[in-house]
Amino acid sequence: MQVLETIGAFRAARAELTGSLGFVPTMGYLHEGHLELVRRARAECDHVAVSIFVNPTQFGPNEDLARYPRDLPRDLDLLRAEGVELVFVPGPPEMYPPDHSTFVVVERATAPLEGARRPGHFQGVATIVCKLFNIVAAQRAYFGQKDAQQTVVIRQMTRDLNMPVEIVIVPTVREPDGLAKSSRNVYLDPAQRAAAPVLYRGLQQAATLYQQGERDAGMLRAAVLRTLEQEPLVALDYVSVAEPSTLTETEGPIRQGALVSLAARIGATRLIDNILLEPDGRA
Ligand code: PAF
Repeated sequence: MQVLETIGAFRAARAELTGSLGFVPTMGYLHEGHLELVRRARAECDHVAVSIFVNPTQFGPNEDLARYPRDLPRDLDLLRAEGVELVFVPGPPEMYPPDHSTFVVVERATAPLEGARRPGHFQGVATIVCKLFNIVAAQRAYFGQKDAQQTVVIRQMTRDLNMPVEIVIVPTVREPDGLAKSSRNVYLDPAQRAAAPVLYRGLQQAATLYQQGERDAGMLRAAVLRTLEQEPLVALDYVSVAEPSTLTETEGPIRQGALVSLAARIGATRLIDNILLEPDGRA
């Protein structure tokens, strides 16, 4: 496994590879969710490249950039064990030299949900992913369904900018109690960790109602809300029932399936999660 810190070194190593390349962009502090992306890439491509870069431009001024968890030696051990060939670990000046002045703005899909609460976040995500795509030159790139809005934004960007990369979305990996795997789970103290699975339980309430035939978006939102209200340590930020490809909020009956997503604070930690309700009534 080659670990490369500069764009030039990465490109030189990448040029040596023949066949298809699968790419998994990450911010490190890897967990099973990331490893699932790597395994999927491994299964579908001749080679796998992973990037580890805590991207400053996607963090707001009051967010957790400085305390974002990092453990590069452990990450590299995990990637080595998965048979990854190339790991790109640039420092911030490599990706954002002092004269950097170009950003990627994806309109519409970035307006609601996380975009409304985290101004600039998706501009940071789209910009770094665009730069990484240009550097890595992979045939396929792998993203987790957990960051549902991110997947919509990246798909839109690659379509709009005619990027020659296929976006593959991989289902959310969960703890046995349903909590979605996230690098931020490490911030939770034991009481908060015990409270956190209520997020998934809320989403499951909506899924169960949907499977029973409920199609009213308001009723599904209310079911999630009622479940989360039972947990005093959890402060709900939003619960949304939206059209999955545009993220337009659904009022009234769901016709073409829906993305049910939420964000909540548990202490100082903000967590997100979502489930997809399929058009055929499955969840
Ligand atoms: O999902 C993430 O970890 C990040 O948003 C990404 C895609 C690596 C860009 O920094």
